[in-house]
Amino acid sequence: MGTSFFRPAKLGIFIGSMRLEELISENDVKLKIRELAEQISNSIPESDQPIILLGILKGSVHFLSDLSRTLWELGRECQLEFMQVSSWHGATSSSGVVQIKKDIDSSIENRDVVIVEDILDTGRTLSHLRDLLGTRHPKSLQICTLLSKPDARIVNVECDYIGFQIPDKFVVGYGLDFDERYRNLQYIAVFHQDE
Ligand code: PRP
Repeated sequence: MGTSFFRPAKLGIFIGSMRLEELISENDVKLKIRELAEQISNSIPESDQPIILLGILKGSVHFLSDLSRTLWELGRECQLEFMQVSSWHGATSSSGVVQIKKDIDSSIENRDVVIVEDILDTGRTLSHLRDLLGTRHPKSLQICTLLSKPDARIVNVECDYIGFQIPDKFVVGYGLDFDERYRNLQYIAVFHQDE
């Protein structure tokens, strides 16, 4: 049998000694994505080439998917590309090491590129990516993150689009994981684990 879930009002979902407390609802995520898509569409001039949305796996998967389809509704075509960069290794704190596990398949030279991230935490990942991709001569290079934890920042990163500023707590859902779990939660939740 699967894990049994217990969900009393207000307190969140309990799974054994763990608790998921809703931080940002599914509907608020949806509304924010519309706002971000409008900002991106207004900021990047129309061109004969689609906007490259560069999703950073795995956490950005749902955000990239919803953002790209909302941009389509706004009349903007997107090319979906992916990189995988890891700085967390199954624990709830950052290792500090940025490792490229998968590079982008296509050239970004003279293209409008938006890096799409689920979360900006210490800033190490996005700082590394911005420096690396900047050397590949894109026409424009912007960063869109759904979540940002300003209190966790170690490396300063200028972001063009930020969905929500959140407290320095461990969050899961909508692509974000704890040890590869909870990515398919429809909303963002604070992950609590009892001692
Ligand atoms: C997470 C997240 C960002 C990064 C942010 O990725 O998706 O890419 O950490 O952290 P930073 O600002 O401290 O660098 P992770 O390495 O956990 O991989 P995942 O997306 O596959 O979960």
